[in-house]
Amino acid sequence: MKRIEFHDREKEKEEIMDILDSEPSLITLIYGPINSGKTTFVDHLIGQLPDDYVPFYVNLRGRFITGYEDFLNVLFEIDEGGVIGNVSEYAQSLIKDLRILGGIPIPLHLFEQIFEKKDKSKDMFKYIERFFTEVSKKRVPVLIIDELQVIGDMKIDGLLIYKLFNFFIRLTKEKHLAHVFVVTSDSLFIEQVYSEAMLEGRSEYLLVDDFDENTTIEFLKGHDFTDDEARVAWKYCGGKPVCLLKLIRVAEKELIAKKMLATRVNQLKNLLDYLNYTKPRMMIGEDSYMVEKEDIVDVLNRFVDAECIDDEGLDRPAKHFLVKDNILFLDPDIGIIKPQSQLNLLAIREVMRDS
Ligand SMILES: Nc1ncnc2c1ncn2[C@@H]1O[C@H](COP(=O)(O)OP(=O)(O)OP(=O)(O)O)[C@@H](O)[C@H]1O
Ligand SMILES: [Mg+2]
Repeated sequence: MKRIEFHDREKEKEEIMDILDSEPSLITLIYGPINSGKTTFVDHLIGQLPDDYVPFYVNLRGRFITGYEDFLNVLFEIDEGGVIGNVSEYAQSLIKDLRILGGIPIPLHLFEQIFEKKDKSKDMFKYIERFFTEVSKKRVPVLIIDELQVIGDMKIDGLLIYKLFNFFIRLTKEKHLAHVFVVTSDSLFIEQVYSEAMLEGRSEYLLVDDFDENTTIEFLKGHDFTDDEARVAWKYCGGKPVCLLKLIRVAEKELIAKKMLATRVNQLKNLLDYLNYTKPRMMIGEDSYMVEKEDIVDVLNRFVDAECIDDEGLDRPAKHFLVKDNILFLDPDIGIIKPQSQLNLLAIREVMRDS
């Protein structure tokens, strides 16, 4: 099968390189609609980093994390042959050979020591800080955690996420030891993080959105689309890479695009029908609220004439429900809400027109 080359992301790349060029001082939150290409972008960047950087990439997606033990197993890469007792010497012995890592290397016996401790987070952070201190004498550590929301609700003596963010602040703003990137496609998580006082002035946001029109057309032209085919693709898929890839692979582009839309329309109709029978509940803070169908319809109706709307005055349970269900994407940095994809926008318009 033909491999699809990585396309563009020049602007985002430039922003990241600017961050990497300066001393680590803020946590960078990379966010965007689902399937916009965040992980692919980060992966591509990691592959292109100059030798003076050492990336540590941890992806929490699909990992079964129910407690500290699981989290430690994901965060660290256990080195069974690592016999050097002292963290500094161990880090020194690795520095030159560190390439792209799926976690922070740790000798088995040190890992077991952390594992046995009651307050695991304290020892875990201490180890990482020492390890990064040593690495940073010769190279720049870059810690990237993808899908951090997976541990968003995990509580062990308080929320783990707060401890982690505090630790990230220490690594960046206070000690300038490592660059920290947090990637997520969960907009409710980003909204929560955004309003978190603890992170104010200590974090910055980088949006990886679907491609814009020019980038999309250029991408498709590179895959032998005619003008008409490119127009159809943009009309149905917008700049959503995963949707465009699907059209690249098929001959009957318009037919498949229409099928994709029909599927989306059916899903949305089904959801609205489901709301005739039940009222889901959404947690807002400590309280749970009922989601009313008419509020959902009110929010969706706003997209009949607009591609994106202000995040103001909307019924909050309805908004959260639609965001959680991946129908809408919420951008707290710009303060707007829009459908997660062009297909969703078209489906919303079609269903609202018929209702
Ligand atoms: N810049 C790009 N060039 C070519 N293909 C891309 C690009 N970005 C993404 N893709 C394709 O789109 C698909 C989805 O991208 P990816 O998984 O990176 O999105 P994501 O934003 O991380 O998704 P999620 O919201 O699920 O985390 C990938 O399989 C990849 O092949
Ligand atoms: Mg991803």
